[in-house]
Amino acid sequence: MSLFRTKNLDHMVAQSRVPGGLHKVLGPADLVLMGIGAIVGTGIFVLTGTGALTAGPALTLSFVIAAVACGLAALCYAEFASTVPVAGSIYTYTYATMGEMVAWMIGWDLLLEYGLATSAVSVGWSGYFQSLIGGFGIHLPAALTAAPGAVPGVDTVMNLPALIIMLVLTSLLSLGVRESARLNSIMVIIKVGVVLLFIFVGARHVQPANWQPFMPFGMSGTMSAAALVFFAFIGFDAVTSAAEEVKRPERDLPIGIIGSLAVCTVLYVVVSAIMTGIVPYQNFAGVDHPVSLALQYAKENWVAGFVDLGAIVGMTTVILVMSFGQTRIIFAMARDGLLPKRLATIHPKYGTPFLATWIVGIVFGLIAAFVPLNVLAELINIGTLAAFCLVSVAVIVLRKKRPDLHRAFRCPGVPYVPALAIVACVALMTFLSKSTWIAFGIWLVLGLAVYFIYSRRNSVLHPAE
Ligand code: ALA
Repeated sequence: MSLFRTKNLDHMVAQSRVPGGLHKVLGPADLVLMGIGAIVGTGIFVLTGTGALTAGPALTLSFVIAAVACGLAALCYAEFASTVPVAGSIYTYTYATMGEMVAWMIGWDLLLEYGLATSAVSVGWSGYFQSLIGGFGIHLPAALTAAPGAVPGVDTVMNLPALIIMLVLTSLLSLGVRESARLNSIMVIIKVGVVLLFIFVGARHVQPANWQPFMPFGMSGTMSAAALVFFAFIGFDAVTSAAEEVKRPERDLPIGIIGSLAVCTVLYVVVSAIMTGIVPYQNFAGVDHPVSLALQYAKENWVAGFVDLGAIVGMTTVILVMSFGQTRIIFAMARDGLLPKRLATIHPKYGTPFLATWIVGIVFGLIAAFVPLNVLAELINIGTLAAFCLVSVAVIVLRKKRPDLHRAFRCPGVPYVPALAIVACVALMTFLSKSTWIAFGIWLVLGLAVYFIYSRRNSVLHPAE
């Protein structure tokens, strides 16, 4: 059955080591910073407002629930990344375990996750950026501030800042991964600094009375908020897409994945507890700067300005790392022939997939410029949750198929931990809206069509005719 043909794992690992491939320059600290770079962004700086309205003070619990689902999936990711350190993340892992068609579908799913995440976060970035320059009295012409139809009653044509930030970051990524990682590290330190500042200043203004009642919308409100703020954790999986550029992948990838997720979980739980402790949750209605609102509420306006700046920096790194992940997945799929081969060409001087990087930057930059994307956070979540389920299944399958493989990191309690990961992810998925499920279904059907029309025949595993 050619639909289920698998790639040879030993061959894949060997292929990743051939000279002339991607440059191996990243260490464990780079990876943890890269993870935090992809994780802390729109989720905590923008979506927590809606989260607080949905769950009340129990938002803190929603963050814990989302973190548990991510943590279980992260253990599965870590096992795979340490065993098969090859570019392409879960796409590559499924190719080796469950066959070409499932791998293609998951790759297609990741294109949706990473691509739309970069667009959605660029739109969030643009909002904060415009409010920052507005503070200095600079205002863009209204037509250039948002996608058509994004602001009721205003004639907007395109979101220019969102397109520009995408293109600037694309040029940076196309010039080399070491340069991008360095800039990323500086920006991550700034954004974590700003979050810590919020915690230290905000903690003094908490009124415990605001935490009562703790769960005004019951468990169902708490779960719905968990399914939404799950967005805030997306990104730790992007660390695995750098696998071929890591110096000691077996050891460093698990550190990068689990380390970055752990740091962010602690930050999120504390931030959400402080936010809902300062501001009664009802006051978050219609607010898109919930974190700085809390500081303004506490009359710490000066610190609130810093938090806004940190949010801009934070979202910049999310776009940077997500675009990076996206290009590496396209690279892996093109190298396998499932996408046009030219997308896997590496620039002789910069050592990056130059063409793929620019195509991603332009396509998703244009989407950010012309499509109102706020509602798409849910679509990104469902795509990611589906990917987490598959990686958990893949760990169980690979343990059965190849017990002999050397696994530098072993997910504990297989098959129970991966099974729990699946249960947790599916549980969150059930709290997403019907329209999200329908849109996701359409995307998958489209993917199947592309597979049968193009990818199956052009796969490197396809026998020559
Ligand atoms: N986790 C990323 C963010 O919250 C996608 O922006």
